[in-house]
Amino acid sequence: MSATLQTIGRRQPVERTLMTVSVNGTSHRVAVRPYDVLLDVLRETLNLTGTRRGCDMGTCGCCTVLIEGRPVLSCLTLALEAEGAAVTTIEGVAATREAGALHPLQEAFVQTGGSQCGFCTPGFIMSAVGLLERNPDPTEDEVKEAISGNICRCTGYIAIVEAILQAARLLREETAR
Ligand code: FES
Ligand code: FES
Repeated sequence: MSATLQTIGRRQPVERTLMTVSVNGTSHRVAVRPYDVLLDVLRETLNLTGTRRGCDMGTCGCCTVLIEGRPVLSCLTLALEAEGAAVTTIEGVAATREAGALHPLQEAFVQTGGSQCGFCTPGFIMSAVGLLERNPDPTEDEVKEAISGNICRCTGYIAIVEAILQAARLLREETAR
């Protein structure tokens, strides 16, 4: 009886699983608990803090990253779901550009004023990268739909939509050259 009482409320150590995940082109082996979310692995384990934690419950879009090119909310994605996958974070979007150069989406956010607080912006950009990879010539409505899960709490969305359309034009011109 007393042994039973002593064990009540005592936490058992949770086993960690070694998983492999590619983040921005670099392969990592990380030990995760079954309930760890991708956002924690990115920010706490890999120190990639560009991916923001906003609501932590799937409503703000701040934590958006790409898995195999598809935007996902990393606060709602179990780390183990990314086992063996290619993850792209805001730190990796300019990887294909010349050293030190921004991605056209980042440039466009700066030029239009679409980037204001720096908190929601990484999530907006990741949603936009995902959109332009699957649809290089989106309509304004398609842009709005693609960022519908991203919330800006301080201003409006006009400059953000303009930035994405501007970057889309630039990327199409680059491709046509
Ligand atoms: S932090 Fe993930 S949706 Fe808000
Ligand atoms: S610009 Fe980030 S919340 Fe408005």
